[in-house]
Amino acid sequence: MKKFIAFEGIDGSGKSTQLRLLSGSLKKIKENFIITREPGGTETSEEIRKILINDNGLKLLPNTELLLFYASRHEHVAKVIIPNLKKRLVLCDRFFFSTFCYQIIGAGGSRNLLNYLHKNFAFNLMPDITIVLDVDPNKAIQRSLNDKKIETKFELKTKRFHKKVSAGFRKLSSHKKVKIINGDREIDIVHKNIIDLLNKNKFIKKKIPYYFKND
Ligand code: ADP
Ligand code: TYD
Repeated sequence: MKKFIAFEGIDGSGKSTQLRLLSGSLKKIKENFIITREPGGTETSEEIRKILINDNGLKLLPNTELLLFYASRHEHVAKVIIPNLKKRLVLCDRFFFSTFCYQIIGAGGSRNLLNYLHKNFAFNLMPDITIVLDVDPNKAIQRSLNDKKIETKFELKTKRFHKKVSAGFRKLSSHKKVKIINGDREIDIVHKNIIDLLNKNKFIKKKIPYYFKND
């Protein structure tokens, strides 16, 4: 099996930006990889995503929300992540720890239920490394709201909720396979730090180069 890398962090923490740069680096060395995201990554999961994150006025019960995240993940892990890991590196924008931080730490859902769902409907698959971009929640939400035309339901939640989620992500530092990167710094510096981290751990066989806009 090839390696599975997840990017995590609150909305606007720079995940998509950093995934784009990392993808530029990987193309330079002709590494075989895919980029995917959660919720989403399959046709059905993208449909479930619309129910979950658009500001559509649906007031889902917390467990309905959790079950829908897992319906989406079940499809995604079985149809995309596992089959691809047999051949190539898989980069994923959000995975298990988003559910842990948003639905459990942020919204107070049941940890046992999450673990049950992950074990039974996501093959207990965990990333080989999770890179958390740690950004001040006030800054991140502002970045994200400046940027997107459609606000997601989660971006419209209270500052208190985002602070809780953010603290949840920071606390993941105790996990061996989670690395926290300071996402408040300039885009290129964050990128270099991510590449250095992956190279230091010899994450893939080849040395990964930096990728800059004009490359
Ligand atoms: P996410 O995918 O985590 O929601 P994005 O990568 O879409 O975050 O970034 C949200 C916005 O913030 C974009 O406009 C992006 O250009 C900007 N941004 C990303 N990283 C940084 C950074 N390190 N410093 C300043 N702005 C950033
Ligand atoms: P998205 O636009 O992909 O995130 P970002 O703004 O970081 O680019 O929106 C996904 C939203 O779904 C985000 O607010 C986090 C939330 N989410 C959960 O609450 N639980 C989960 O398990 C996942 C995967 C996402």
